Formats: sequence, C-alpha cells, structure tokens
Amino acid sequence: MAERRESIHGQWSGRWAFILAATGSAVGLGNIWKFPYITGENGGGAFVLVYLLCIAIIGIPIMIAEVMLGRRGRRSPINTMRHLAREEQASQLWQYLGWAGVVAGFLILSYYAVIAGWAVAYIFRTASGSFTGATADGVASIFSDLVSDPERLLAWHTIFMVCTMVVVARGVRSGLEKAVRYLMPALFVLLLVLVGYAMNTDAFVAGAAFLLTPDFHALFYQSNAQGVAELTAEPLLIALGHAFFTLSLGMGAIMVYGSYLPRQASIVKTSVVIALMDTLVALLAGLAIFPIVFANGLEPGSGPGLIFQTLPIAFGHMPGGAFFGSLFFILLAFAALSSAISLIEPAVAWLVENHGFTRIYATVWIGLLSWLLGVGSIFSFNIWSGEEYQLFGKTFFDLLDYLTANIMLPLGGLLIAIFAAWQMRRSSCRDELGLTDGLVFKGWYFLIRYVSPVAVTIVFLNAIGLLTF
Ligand code: TRP
Repeated sequence: MAERRESIHGQWSGRWAFILAATGSAVGLGNIWKFPYITGENGGGAFVLVYLLCIAIIGIPIMIAEVMLGRRGRRSPINTMRHLAREEQASQLWQYLGWAGVVAGFLILSYYAVIAGWAVAYIFRTASGSFTGATADGVASIFSDLVSDPERLLAWHTIFMVCTMVVVARGVRSGLEKAVRYLMPALFVLLLVLVGYAMNTDAFVAGAAFLLTPDFHALFYQSNAQGVAELTAEPLLIALGHAFFTLSLGMGAIMVYGSYLPRQASIVKTSVVIALMDTLVALLAGLAIFPIVFANGLEPGSGPGLIFQTLPIAFGHMPGGAFFGSLFFILLAFAALSSAISLIEPAVAWLVENHGFTRIYATVWIGLLSWLLGVGSIFSFNIWSGEEYQLFGKTFFDLLDYLTANIMLPLGGLLIAIFAAWQMRRSSCRDELGLTDGLVFKGWYFLIRYVSPVAVTIVFLNAIGLLTF
C-alpha cells in the first residue's frame, strides 16, 4: 500500500526539485559561517578530516535512512514515526523522535535567524562601500559595532524571520522550490570568485595548509580557561554534530522533504549528490577564508564572527568589491533562508495535519515563538555576554548551539539509524530504497546497523565524559 501513499502537503515536481530543495536546506550558514569558524577553533586540518569521515560513514547513511523514513511515511515527522512504528509493529514511543525533531528545529531556527540577520545587515554595509580599502582592524570594528547593538540585531533578526515565514506560508512548491533553483548555483560561482581572490594573497598556501594538513595535536589539545593545553575529545563531538547540522540531519527536516519525494526517485543517489555538494561548498568557503585570515594576521579561532571579519577585507580590496560583496551576502542570506524554511517545515506540517491549522496560521505561530527565543541569542553578543550570564562558560547562544547541534541532532540521528536498521523490516527498507539485495544495499545496511550507531554512541559518551580512553 505504500506505493499509493501521498503527502497531503503536495509533492516535489521531480527528483531534481528534491535535490535542489534538500541542497538548499543543507547548504546554508552551516557551510559558510559555521564550518570555517569551528575549523579555526579546533585546529584546522585534523578537524576537517574527522568531519569528512563523519559525513562519509555516518552522515550519508543516516541521510539515506531519514529520507527513506520520510518517503515511506508521507507525513510530518511526528505522524510518520507514529505511522511507521505501527506498520512495523514497533513501540508508539517512536513518535517522540518526531517530537524531539520539531523542538530541535524550532530551537535552531531561533539563533539561525539571528546570524542570518548579520548576513542581511552586511548586504547593506558592503553595498554602501563601508569596506572599501578597509584594514582588518576597521572591518573588525564594524563587526563589533553591529553585534554590540541589540536593537540593530533585533531589526535584522526580525526581517529575516518574517522572510522565512512568508516563504514557508506559501507552501511546498511555490515557496520552497523556486528560491533555490537559481540562487544556489550563483552562490557557488561567487565562492569560486572568492577562492580566486584568496589564491592571489600571499597566504594562500598557509591557508590551504591549515585547512588540509591534519595536525592531530592541534585537534586534541586545546587551551583551557587558564591557557593550558589539555587533552580533550570534545572536538570529535563538534565535528560529528556539525556533520548532522550541515546535512540538516537528525531532526526531521530531511524526513519531511523526503515525504514530498516522488516514488520513483533514487534515494541513495540523491543523498550522495546532496552530501557531496554540501561538502564542496564548505571546503570552498574554508579555502576562501583562511588565506585571508593568515594574510592579515587574524586569529583562526576567533569564533562566530570569523567570516564577517575576513571576507569584507577581500571585498574591500578587489575590483568591484562593493558589488561582489553585496551580491555574496545576498546569496548567503538566501542560502540561509532556504535552510531556515526546512527548520520549521516539520512543525508546520504537523500543526496542519493534527490541529487543522492553515499553513499560514501554523507558520505565524511557530515563527513568532522562535523569533522571541532568538532575542536570547541576540543578547548573548552584548548585554548578556558577561560571565555572570554564562553557564559552563557558555553564553545563551553557545548553549543553544551546543544543545541542538552537538546533542539533539546526533541523538536524533542515532535513533533514526536504530529505527531504520533494527525496527523496520529489512524488506521494507529494500522496498522503499528500490534496491536489490546487492552491494549498495548491504553496504548501507551494515553502516546504518552497526557503524553509525556505534560511532555516534562512542563519540557521544566520550565527549560528555562518561567514557574515557
Ligand atoms: N544545514 C543547514 C546549514 O548548514 C542548517 C539546517 C537547516 C539544519 N535545516 C536543518 C540543521 C535541520 C539541522 C537540522 O546551514
């Protein structure tokens, strides 16, 4: 009967529409803003290597599983899990996996919109020529002026959230699909331009080496609050969490997109394509940013402001920089938008299905609540940045980021893997993936059944200190 099941929210117009939308969800601030700054904070190449490994043996198999569950269930993640659990005679508790996803998406959106607001602000900053000829110090002070002003941040955050709500309210086809078709390729081209600029700085080799030469000492020994290098496994968790974050896994976003996927599309191929494109974008962003960091004597580990303190230097010095710069931030804002919409889609789909909300009404509610929570992240960069407002040395923003990306997403992904591999019948998986019992299926099944769950569990327990080597 699975053959004739259709989602009440509509369907993608085809396999490419899904690839575009899922890539739109995957490629976002995670690739261009977060990947470079956490790579900088965690010592460079070795971190990148661990991250790539996580993508390959954990991210891609779990992505396949998540799309598969979505397409089989054809509903919002909560109802998909409830339905599949019944169909596979598993416990009804599995629906809470859908619930956790809805909550995670909502929490992520709250701070995602704040950072996306920075990108929107930078469209205008760059266009106005503020960066023309600017020094690294000048660029840094423009950034700190912005983040220390809660009212300005609130305005940009609000603008971004409203745009997200408008797109989501318009629905699967008209809203989500179109935004990605032209903007993703354009962003890609602009990244290439930036890498081209970076190649002309005399620090290109240093930047590329930082990104691509693994130095495991720099990964595992990090300075603590007293500046003493300490052995820590936490970077592994950060790399793992980021693999989930950047592929939009573990909270139902890819599941809900999968539920709109036409029956004949190949889930394995599309997942691999999406993961490759996502990884490519992140690496290009790194290649563009680190040469600028080293050419200007900046600190790679300077945190969430990294791209906003580096790329404007490039735009300030290249011909046509104000134009290219504002175009870049426009595209970054769109990339963030196509990711943000996937963060609330599971919640919206659920409110429509279970509570008879209209799409518009559901979107407004979720958006409004998430916007409100975002204020906490805004304050984390100014009036709540002091130590008296921190918990475990982390601001509200840091805590939310840590809780969602490093804890909720890996746990969600782990449960998705367990459900697909241990609760669903093998034949259901094979049927939904449209595979014969050949090498591809066996390989995936092995990864999802043993490798991904064990790896996630070890990294997880280790990082939270319950397991030490
Ligand atoms: N993947 C997006 C990025 O890299 C962020 C994102 C969108 C996301 N949807 C998600 C992260 C779902 C986790 C879960 O910017």
